[in-house]
Amino acid sequence: MTPTEIAEHPLLSTNWYHKLELLPGLVTNGPGFDNLVVTRAMLNGIDVAGQNCLDIGAMDGLVAYLLERRGAGRSVAYDRNSRPLNPISNGDRFRFAREALGSNVEFLWDMPLKHVWAASAEIGLRTYDVVVFAGVLYHMFDPLAGLAVARNLVRDGGLIVVETGATLDASASMHANVGGRFYPADDYWLPSVRTLEYWMRFLHLEPIDATFLHHRVVDGLPVIRVAVTCRAVESFRATPDDDWMRRQNLGAFVPDFQECLNWDEVKSDKPPVPYQHSGRHIARHPGSDVLDLFSTLTSSPAMLAAEHPELMQLLLADR
Ligand SMILES: C[S@@+](CC[C@H](N)C(=O)[O-])C[C@H]1O[C@@H](n2cnc3c(N)ncnc32)[C@H](O)[C@@H]1O
Repeated sequence: MTPTEIAEHPLLSTNWYHKLELLPGLVTNGPGFDNLVVTRAMLNGIDVAGQNCLDIGAMDGLVAYLLERRGAGRSVAYDRNSRPLNPISNGDRFRFAREALGSNVEFLWDMPLKHVWAASAEIGLRTYDVVVFAGVLYHMFDPLAGLAVARNLVRDGGLIVVETGATLDASASMHANVGGRFYPADDYWLPSVRTLEYWMRFLHLEPIDATFLHHRVVDGLPVIRVAVTCRAVESFRATPDDDWMRRQNLGAFVPDFQECLNWDEVKSDKPPVPYQHSGRHIARHPGSDVLDLFSTLTSSPAMLAAEHPELMQLLLADR
């Protein structure tokens, strides 16, 4: 595409999700959502050079392009499809931006998340070294199954950055989006950060770093955007007093969650993906080395999106 063809393309006047600079000074009209601030704060700790990466829920592709520019071995963008009322697929915008940017990001589109493992196998990948699962979980009808399916896409020793809306409360809750009280769109559940951390550890994901932004208070619950970097590990990460989590290995459960994942499929001999910790304070569960997400987040200040406008867009020079 020539610069004129890009600048005059009819897709430019549609509603973009991301702010992407396609030509010098020509930026798509996305609102510049602030959840990218926490996602990118966590991504800054991962040297993705040579690593195979997957961006789940890529929309216009900002994260996938960023990973490509940082030298990912392969950068794959996945999204299911557009919302029913949207006549223009987000895939149309993604493919246009990809071409305009001269990007080689690969893409898996128009399929449910549970099909991504098989679709990845078809392009010779199956699991990934680095997975970004940002802004998706709180949209899912069944977020626990969604987290399990995402876990099946990151190989043991790999890293996953999970970013989602959540509540900053210490209860072990999944708060229902009754009447759209938290979000007006296709959002069903908002996990408390304690719940989010627990299900991560249950699914062999060890939280190693986290940061957050405050959004608002709803029904007394602080609503935040939280990004957690997790290491995919070979077993669950139970606290010393938690016999219930251990029971999953004792044949005491019908392992329904294994309909969403297969532990054999994520085994890997590759070395752990290195992670440079953000330096934010980490609090541990008493008597253990397990990260306590609620205490970790409440013992450090929230990030302020207004201080990081550069992270809410992707300019041509950004790396
Ligand atoms: C809020 S956008 C997030 C875009 C991008 N990841 C970011 O953080 O800027 C939500 C994304 O989640 C995807 N999504 C929502 N529910 C999903 C589901 N059940 N399965 C797979 N993807 C889903 C949407 O298609 C969309 O790409």
